[in-house]
Amino acid sequence: MIKDIFKSVRLLSSEKTEKTEFKSGVIIERRHFLWLPVFAVAALTVPRNVLAAENLNLTAGSINWDDFLKECLPKAVELHKDSTAQGQDAYLFWIASMAARLNLMTVPNAKLGKFKDLNPPVEFGIGYRGVPFFIVEWKMSPNAYFPPHNHPNASVCTIGLEGEARIRNFEIVGNAPEFSSAAKFSVRETHHGIISAGRINVLSAKRDNIHTFQVGKDGARGIDISTYHGENIGFSFLDIQEKPTDAEKKLFEANWRKL
Ligand SMILES: [Fe+2]
Repeated sequence: MIKDIFKSVRLLSSEKTEKTEFKSGVIIERRHFLWLPVFAVAALTVPRNVLAAENLNLTAGSINWDDFLKECLPKAVELHKDSTAQGQDAYLFWIASMAARLNLMTVPNAKLGKFKDLNPPVEFGIGYRGVPFFIVEWKMSPNAYFPPHNHPNASVCTIGLEGEARIRNFEIVGNAPEFSSAAKFSVRETHHGIISAGRINVLSAKRDNIHTFQVGKDGARGIDISTYHGENIGFSFLDIQEKPTDAEKKLFEANWRKL
């Protein structure tokens, strides 16, 4: 669509040709386009709702919230039956592919409540409860930090709705002690990226299972589509040292912690 807008602008612009004689009769032809302000022309030629859709990256394939659930759930139920690493990926990427088509404006707002006494505050609320997944909305205040935590036997498909946060994923390397233990163990950073409106991050029970968020100055809001692929045994926060023990492999020392 943006390409089409620029094409229209170019067609509507007037063209001026200037010829200059250069040495032995060689004529250099210069063409100048007298550009009209792009947005002035776009406003004249493109319907308002099309421009709004462009801002949201919506296409003809976009779906609203109700259609997302209706189209996503039957296949999700089938794929959820395979809880192997590959099966979880097939399940997660199906959900992610459907979420990529979602019109974010149609995601219903959950009733949010503050999580513990984090400052800047972080809020959560259940937006949808179903089978096989449930959806948690999160809202993180400007500059909030949500510490690393794991999701035992679970997968999560995170979709940004507003604002921006740094998101990092880790995996446990080797064995980790019980949540009650203060013993050190090793984790590997497997992903370091940004979550913002329309961006998606996935973790499964078998990979990238730990994540943490560092929010930017405008705050951030999003949803987690969470699914159990085994027993719910709770979860734990953890401390991860800033300096890696192996910079090349991105290994870090960690320990479980209470929040
Ligand atoms: Fe999480």
